[in-house]
Amino acid sequence: MTSTSRAFHLAASGGALHLTQRNRDVTQPTPQQVLIRIGAASLNYRDLLTLQDTASNRDGLIPLSDGAGTVVAVGSGVSRWKVGDRVSANFFPTWQGGPFSPVALATALGGGQTDGMLSEYVLADAASLVAVPEHLSLAEAATLPCAAVTAWHALFERGHLQPGETVLVQGTGGVALFGLQLATAHGAKVIVTSSSDAKLARARAMGAWKTINYKTQPAWDAAALDLTEGQGVDHILELGGPDTYNRSISAIAPGGRIAQIGVLTGFASQPNILPLQFKNASIDGICVGSVQHFERLNQFLATHRIHPVIDKTFAFDDAPAAYEHLKSAAHFGKVVIDLS
Ligand SMILES: NC(=O)c1ccc[n+]([C@@H]2O[C@H](COP(=O)([O-])OP(=O)(O)OC[C@H]3O[C@@H](n4cnc5c(N)ncnc54)[C@H](OP(=O)(O)O)[C@@H]3O)[C@@H](O)[C@H]2O)c1
Repeated sequence: MTSTSRAFHLAASGGALHLTQRNRDVTQPTPQQVLIRIGAASLNYRDLLTLQDTASNRDGLIPLSDGAGTVVAVGSGVSRWKVGDRVSANFFPTWQGGPFSPVALATALGGGQTDGMLSEYVLADAASLVAVPEHLSLAEAATLPCAAVTAWHALFERGHLQPGETVLVQGTGGVALFGLQLATAHGAKVIVTSSSDAKLARARAMGAWKTINYKTQPAWDAAALDLTEGQGVDHILELGGPDTYNRSISAIAPGGRIAQIGVLTGFASQPNILPLQFKNASIDGICVGSVQHFERLNQFLATHRIHPVIDKTFAFDDAPAAYEHLKSAAHFGKVVIDLS
């Protein structure tokens, strides 16, 4: 095994953060850790936000929460994992299950204070790992920790989604397409919104029940009400923020649930929540998920043989181009970086 690992780090210069590639020493695991040779990593919208956030001190941090790889060494106290196991780490290494503790926020991989996955070798706490489902490649598994766990947590752990219910997902990025795949596999009827008719055609080919172009139909809430014969949508993954919130509240069904997830149009949502009262509807705040959520997601993916949608894969050296591709919003699904 090599003694050095190539990695990208965030470097602060000129009032901005940049990606810079450096070698660093590979250290051996402590008793409760394992050392992973990362096969692939993937990007989330959060990684663009992290790069833009110059107020927090992240100089030197290895970015990206999402990766999957093969165990190459295990600490003396680890019995659950062995060399050769394929694993990925939970977004919050310290949230095993049960109620969320905000203490976990600082430990979030690749954006809090803990190094992330854009590195050939990663040391991880054994308790933070989940096994990669057998039917998935490492590249596919690398797309799961943030976007897929979030969609799972929103729809199944908190939303208790039932077959036949309606779901609306906003856009065709990572969280939205996982929402589409998971809900469709469970027998729900999914409405997808997008700025692109071509992307909507792809969503229909994946099983979307109905689609709405939110550029040509800005009143997509009225369109969703029409599609559901005035009933409204049972579950909405609210990904947009200020520009979408009041339309989500308008489109939600009586007794429905809005999963508060995204900030695609900014952080300063000022929704008028009064209509929720007259619909007995709820908003659930969702922050990724626990190791247990991730394990249950993986079980579901394996049962339904679901493969994540990979839009494009970039070579490790081209990681900055992968960020640019995500920023362009040209993608459909997930953007992956190959570290194999
Ligand atoms: N709370 C959590 O735990 C959590 C976890 C994961 C992600 N998030 C948040 O969820 C959001 C989505 O993340 P992601 O990684 O899935 O993003 P992503 O893959 O980068 O998806 C971006 C897509 O969102 C769509 N979009 C942009 N503006 C929109 C609007 N006004 N209305 C509807 N769709 C719009 C576009 O789809 P089209 O090109 O099809 O129009 C765009 O391609 C982000 O805000 C992210 O920070 C939160």
